Amino acid sequence: MIEYNKESALAVIAEAKETVERELEKIYPEGEGTAASLYEAIRYSLLSGGKRIRATLVLETCRMLGGQTEAALPFACAVEMVHTYSLIHDDLPCMDDDDMRRGRPTNHKVYGEATAILAGDGLLTDAFSVSAMNPYVSGDCAATAVAILSGAAGSFGMVKGQAVDLYGESHELTESELVELHMGKTGAMICASVQLGCLAAGYMPNDEITEKLTLFARNIGLVFQIVDDILDVTSTSEMLGKTVGSDKDNNKTTFMSFFTPESAMTYAEKLTEEAIALMDGIKGSERMVDLALYLCDRKN
Ligand code: IPE
Ligand code: IPE
Ligand code: MG
Ligand code: MG
Ligand code: MG
Repeated sequence: MIEYNKESALAVIAEAKETVERELEKIYPEGEGTAASLYEAIRYSLLSGGKRIRATLVLETCRMLGGQTEAALPFACAVEMVHTYSLIHDDLPCMDDDDMRRGRPTNHKVYGEATAILAGDGLLTDAFSVSAMNPYVSGDCAATAVAILSGAAGSFGMVKGQAVDLYGESHELTESELVELHMGKTGAMICASVQLGCLAAGYMPNDEITEKLTLFARNIGLVFQIVDDILDVTSTSEMLGKTVGSDKDNNKTTFMSFFTPESAMTYAEKLTEEAIALMDGIKGSERMVDLALYLCDRKN
């Protein structure tokens, strides 16, 4: 593993986490009245921690490209809202059937399945209005943001990945199908986070820099899920704040079906090295390089 500045990566994440959580609090204040339990369920999962890696990627990409944090912040909130929805639904009994998330009982364990489904529905849908109404970017930019987000979240992105994940419970996947699965269920939203950061800094999806950073994001997105698969077999619930061994219990095809934790880590390191090579010559990319190396090295 290449030497890197872990403190720098942790500081970038901590700063983004504080910024995005302050804003998410404003989007979802405590609710009252007949739908109070819906807002409570949303707040329970959305504001209960989470590493905020996707928000960090939005904000840091924008900063690196010389954009303003205010312009990136609604997009950073939106990706965390979509991500939290995906976790609430991923944990449901009909999906991974998990009891613990972010160090607490899963949403459906506390609020029941119906409210958990609605909390996810609300978060997903609200993410589009938060993006579309970003007051710091042009109408064109906001529309493009909605297209990026829906493309990544929908049935050609994350939802497709989740469908392949289900298929893999009862079929033997090839290694390339597994990569397709990971690129969908995790990679798509990580790519979208970087693309939204570019957009907030004024770069459209077909701009050269966005295309280059998308390649970077594809690699670190795949690495993120490979590490998730490794930690599911090597870590503890205390460390991760979520159920470990869930993949095996659910008969999932993961990187652990093809690799040992060590060989999977070697693969993740190779992908990370390819990713950071793309940062060569991009001014101000040192923090992003540290971030990429930390995501490969993370223990939770
Ligand atoms: C967990 O994501 C699900 C995956 C896509 C691997 P994170 O590990 O980013 O979860 P939080 O947001 O920190 O809880
Ligand atoms: C979940 O992958 C990815 C999405 C929620 C889209 P996992 O099922 O591996 O995530 P964890 O391990 O439950 O966090
Ligand atoms: Mg799952
Ligand atoms: Mg899961
Ligand atoms: Mg997992």
